[in-house]
Amino acid sequence: MTKEQKYEELLLEVAGLTADETDEIANMANIAAAIHTKMGFHWTGFYRVLPTPDGSGEELVLGPFQGPVACTRIRFGRGVCGTAWKERRTLIVPDVEQFPGHIACSALSRSEIVIPILRKGAVVAELDIDSAELDTFDAVDEHYLTVLVTSLGSTGKS
Ligand code: SME
Repeated sequence: MTKEQKYEELLLEVAGLTADETDEIANMANIAAAIHTKMGFHWTGFYRVLPTPDGSGEELVLGPFQGPVACTRIRFGRGVCGTAWKERRTLIVPDVEQFPGHIACSALSRSEIVIPILRKGAVVAELDIDSAELDTFDAVDEHYLTVLVTSLGSTGKS
């Protein structure tokens, strides 16, 4: 099965899983599990933009995920995730060792894709995927993964 065929099946699966569910966490949990199981990535999960404990700002906080344990909080502009948030754009990193400031949650991660989820122009969450191999992600992954998480940005829920 090609990568495109796997993603086409994922689109149908995720549409079915999320169609009647309005809870964002529940949908993130099933989307992460569906992607991870189908594609065999090293780590697949979400970070949500939430207020810092002291209320002074916002930071990325670990959400539903599949894979090894991960960093719980990431600040604006830090690492691949914080940079994607700051720049409000998808980042594809072919070799994480070449990305200045990359946050190594797992020593096995070699490449990464981070897709911001926007609501009314603001980043509210991110889909973050790590691969144990170099240069895993391309425009095909970006296209399908963006479609897979688009509904999360339009639910109006948080
Ligand atoms: N590598 C990310 C941190 C999150 S983990 O990969 C799950 C980063 O540099 O932001």
